[in-house]
Amino acid sequence: MADQCAQSGKDNRSPIPVIRWEEPPEGPVVVLLDQRRLPAEEAELVCADVPALVDAIRTLAVRGAPLLGIAGAYGVALAAARGVDVGAAAAELAGARPTAVNLAVGVRRALAPYRAALAGGGDRRQAAEAALGAARALHREDAEASARMARHGLALLDDLLPGGAHRVLTHCNTGALVSGGEGTAFAVALEAHRAGRLSRLWVDETRPLLQGARLTAYEAARNGMPYTVLTDNAAGSLFAAGEVDAVLIGADRIAADGSVANKVGSYPLAVLARYHRVPFLVVAPVTTVDATTPDGASIEVEQRAGHEVTEVAVPWTAGAEGGGGIPVTPRGTRAYNPAFDVTPPELVTAIVTEEGVVSPVTTGALAVLCDRSRQV
Ligand code: MRU
Repeated sequence: MADQCAQSGKDNRSPIPVIRWEEPPEGPVVVLLDQRRLPAEEAELVCADVPALVDAIRTLAVRGAPLLGIAGAYGVALAAARGVDVGAAAAELAGARPTAVNLAVGVRRALAPYRAALAGGGDRRQAAEAALGAARALHREDAEASARMARHGLALLDDLLPGGAHRVLTHCNTGALVSGGEGTAFAVALEAHRAGRLSRLWVDETRPLLQGARLTAYEAARNGMPYTVLTDNAAGSLFAAGEVDAVLIGADRIAADGSVANKVGSYPLAVLARYHRVPFLVVAPVTTVDATTPDGASIEVEQRAGHEVTEVAVPWTAGAEGGGGIPVTPRGTRAYNPAFDVTPPELVTAIVTEEGVVSPVTTGALAVLCDRSRQV
């Protein structure tokens, strides 16, 4: 097959600065790498208050399940440090996007020590420090989890596909741009690349917001990986040509029964993978498993504005109110635009977490894994 990739050839291991806390004289801020502008420019977005951060979350300046958790935790710390109503800010943050459970988990992670500090007689400054400490800890832990997922994931790939250089298909963006570390599914591919066992990373462009074409390709090029971008609807012919050894995706929420919500277009890949007898692997931290969501039908799937489908804008900068792109449909066309879809557990070969691999994917096996992680 013709090699259509455009690699930089470099292996740039410096971390991508996706989120950080700063305390300039004007007061604390959360600084984000504005992912709406990638790959055209590496621009920073400074959020000095919670409404600015909520807007950044809704418009995908900051995105991806684990990073949403970290952003939510820093958001609570920001509200606390700025002396606004922390309970209301936490509710705003947690509700900014409904599907990625990590967002609400991250918010709770910072809110609990804030409230505990106040309940224990601490003043607001001490409570704010407790919230910031929790956000920083979550940020660090996510980096560690990412490294462990990468190791478990590569070991699994090597088991499933012995003796080979792997040709892996991925969807959306799951690398350093979504994490305190190197990500989830992408981190596994990167680990394989560093071990000399990745012969091709197939990158779905991921319509409509192009997280694959804009962001995963950016990360793959940055790391000197052999990658090729395809339109989402070219995946079928790629499987049929025998060019895919495994699919690696992330997750926004994993229900108790192992149903996986991830970027829309993941479910069709799972169906293709099953038909072509290719392993379909989901890589996610344990915090993405939501024991309170019993099954796939109970997962709330975010519906996004139709203009994301009916207009094309690159770099993609349209806000929640939208518009401003080049129309590609007749005026007034309605669009179906779910941000995620749900893959049933029977189509998932394995779920890879920092605590280990679940395969086959069953309610019982997932519950054991979550219990184990709580005891650590
Ligand atoms: O809408 P996005 O860009 O936030 O969607 C992100 C995804 O669907 C990722 O695949 C998912 O968050 C897993 S990232 C580890």
